[in-house]
Amino acid sequence: MELLLLADPSEDKVRSYLPRSKCFVALSSGVVIGACVVQPLGTGIYELMSIAVHADHQRSGYGTALLKWVIDFYRECGASRIEVGTGTFGYQLAFYQRQGFRVTGIDHDFFVSNYQEPVFEDGIQLLDMLRLTLTYTGDASS
Ligand SMILES: CC(C)(COP(=O)(O)OP(=O)(O)OC[C@H]1O[C@@H](n2cnc3c(N)ncnc32)[C@H](O)[C@@H]1OP(=O)(O)O)[C@@H](O)C(=O)NCCC(=O)NCCS
Repeated sequence: MELLLLADPSEDKVRSYLPRSKCFVALSSGVVIGACVVQPLGTGIYELMSIAVHADHQRSGYGTALLKWVIDFYRECGASRIEVGTGTFGYQLAFYQRQGFRVTGIDHDFFVSNYQEPVFEDGIQLLDMLRLTLTYTGDASS
């Protein structure tokens, strides 16, 4: 939970999707240093709900390795696409797009409507959520 709260500040929200999700973890010397939660949305469609790496281990490649592993896992499962919601700015946007995610929508005021407290990134309040999609056919519009 400590890790997952790095990616989503609402513990209630995290607890609401955990029961129907799979949680993947990254280990270093047997210690969990990263986690990624994915829930099914429909047949062959999944949503990456959360990915986080412990602050002491960030920028060491663990997050990218975990994300790639999860993408490969769902490709092997025959998934057609994975979606993720993220802020409209910040390094996370590049983190996902580097692995082939593309912008497929905007959820205006998502962070205002769905969180009791304002959410900040780089000192700027997050208002809107970008929806990103990775399609296994390579066509984000399908
Ligand atoms: C997003 C996250 C999971 C990435 O994991 P990571 O192990 O740090 O990622 P990597 O080491 O593979 O880094 C990949 C790239 O992401 C970018 N990046 C990662 N952390 C960054 C940071 N704190 N500041 C700026 N860029 C960062 C860099 O471009 C980095 O590549 P580089 O180090 O070669 O420049 C991790 O930073 C994290 O837990 N962040 C807090 C939670 C979060 O925001 N989750 C995503 C919610 S949408």
